[in-house]
Amino acid sequence: DTAPSLFSRAGGAEFFDRLVAAFYRGVADDEVLAPLYPEAPDFGPAERRLSLFLQQYWGGPMTYLEERGHPRLRMRHFPFHVGPLERDRWLVHMAAAVEETCNGIDDGDAIAAELMGYFVPVAEHMRNDTGLP
Ligand code: HEM
Repeated sequence: DTAPSLFSRAGGAEFFDRLVAAFYRGVADDEVLAPLYPEAPDFGPAERRLSLFLQQYWGGPMTYLEERGHPRLRMRHFPFHVGPLERDRWLVHMAAAVEETCNGIDDGDAIAAELMGYFVPVAEHMRNDTGLP
């Protein structure tokens, strides 16, 4: 497949840095999600890891793998309580960040749709609690 990657269509690392910065602005103000982050209120390190992961996933450089190893994302989320509420709030902040960041860029609507088509099922995949009593 020689189609250009979403990484390059969206504008490279700078796009993902803006996306993740917008996302963590929402997380930092979220009383359910913010306390889950071990380094809160410093979201800088988490921002870097998520941006590098997403760059790699969408066809950019493999820096995440070099720094963090194989993603094993579901396993890496076991220490954090991810129930339906956390999943939904994560998605609300990500959807807002996607909308803000894709607005006005070339092919932004298609890029936003591709990103959300990925985030919705992956957020559900990270869920490690039913939310039932
Ligand atoms: C790490 C929460 C979904 C990607 C983390 C961390 C928390 C967290 C608390 C630790 C902060 C850190 O050390 O980086 C959540 C919650 C989710 C969720 C509540 C709700 C569904 C997702 C999704 C993705 C993702 C959908 C990917 C599309 C990552 C990555 C890391 C991370 C790449 C860093 C892993 C590492 O290298 O240590 N997440 N997350 N998360 N999360 Fe999530």
